[in-house]
Amino acid sequence: MAKRSNSFACQSCGAVYGRWQGRCDACGGWNTIAEESAPPPLPGGSAPRGPGGRTKGRVFPLEGLTGSSMDAPRVPSGIAELDRVTGGGFVRGSVILLGGDPGIGKSTLLMQACAAVAKSGRRVVYISGEEAVGQVRLRAERLALADAPVELASETNVEDIIATLSQGGAPTLVIIDSIQTMWSEAVESAPGTVTQVRGSAQALIRYAKTSGSALILVGHVTKDGQIAGPRVVEHMVDAVASFEGDGAHHFRILRAVKNRFGPTDEIGVFEMTGTGLAEVPNPSALFLAGRDTGSPGTAVFAGMEGTRPLLVEFQALVAPSSLGTPRRAVVGWDPSRLSMVIAVLEAHAGLRLGQYDVYLNVAGGLKITEPAADAAAAAALVSSLTGAPLPPDRVYIGEIALTGALRPAAQTPARLKEAAKLGFSTAFLPRAGLDGRGSSPMRHDAAGDVTDLVSGIAALAPRARRALASERG
Ligand code: TYD
Ligand code: MG
Repeated sequence: MAKRSNSFACQSCGAVYGRWQGRCDACGGWNTIAEESAPPPLPGGSAPRGPGGRTKGRVFPLEGLTGSSMDAPRVPSGIAELDRVTGGGFVRGSVILLGGDPGIGKSTLLMQACAAVAKSGRRVVYISGEEAVGQVRLRAERLALADAPVELASETNVEDIIATLSQGGAPTLVIIDSIQTMWSEAVESAPGTVTQVRGSAQALIRYAKTSGSALILVGHVTKDGQIAGPRVVEHMVDAVASFEGDGAHHFRILRAVKNRFGPTDEIGVFEMTGTGLAEVPNPSALFLAGRDTGSPGTAVFAGMEGTRPLLVEFQALVAPSSLGTPRRAVVGWDPSRLSMVIAVLEAHAGLRLGQYDVYLNVAGGLKITEPAADAAAAAALVSSLTGAPLPPDRVYIGEIALTGALRPAAQTPARLKEAAKLGFSTAFLPRAGLDGRGSSPMRHDAAGDVTDLVSGIAALAPRARRALASERG
């Protein structure tokens, strides 16, 4: 038998090196590289051969794009917020990787989904590699789901798991909690290494594809938000979902990062309660609850998450800096977007923010990625700078271009409809987006650029006018 050479793999991103080194060139992680034995050659010998050694290949038929193909058969979980993210239910034979911080509620969500599917008369198997069967049962009792016919086991050996699953009819849904605890005898590395995680995932995915079971792999997330170790697994699965939220809030957001069978911009919103995760069908009301309307520095953005409008509050604090380089800190928004908005306010509206520390926060622990939030962020900044509270019944929509111009956002009528439903009566909108068809269900200020935005806020209070006049020198 040929000697198998060892390689060195980064345990964080999976990059492979010929020798050990302290820092991974691919992901920049320190001390993440560990020695591993090279993966065994695949059955059938897919190891690279010389051009002369190529055996004759099998001929397979090629097909056209038209033709009949079955619609992906789905199994709805019955949890509407979860089905929204998967695109209507779990697809048979597909694999979902569910990532999230420890303690965020992945096991709870999956137990609730398992119970719902099992109660509809389908076979569901839940394999926990982290908790004993007793612990999983205790959780089910707490969720008042102990009567659901879910089949449980505490196992970590992939070959044993697949052998067990192959007995009897293939389950409709299989949960592996978590992929980092699994190990396969076919792989020589220690459990928890990238090679093991990849090998185990490969075997389980192959099982799902051949048996038609929908498989969900739980993956832990590292401090910097990546699914630990198996970045490689992300490429192998059909969908990657992440479960987010922070300890201080009870909201949990399920987001599809990749989805071969559905949308990737939908989110599912849950609230962690004493008896499990409760669905939040109207998240805007939740994110705006307890809003402080009388203080400067807050603006409400009428956003969209997929097909659903979502209102969130942007909070800004602009304070004189004692540092040579003022601080800019952002939670829930893109820091480079904040730098851009600040630069535009300085260049086109004459504000001087260079002497100020700037903090920006999206309330409720939500992450906003839409460019249309620029106007709300800018309004919150100007409001904090001038000390003028913004009208509490106003929403802000609009992307700010580097020229200072405001750009319209898609689906403005849907955003305004949601805002009107929640009691907002005026909107700040880019003029370019108003098509003259009376698309706005509420009173609006149409603005052309950031100067209009700033002078609109200045007009609100004499104090703001004075503050701006002195800022503009
Ligand atoms: P868990 O699902 O075990 O998280 P994960 O699998 O992502 O690590 O959830 C753990 C947290 O959720 C724990 O801190 C307790 C809390 N929790 C509730 O608040 N209510 C509940 O009904 C349950 C089951 C858990
Ligand atoms: Mg868990």
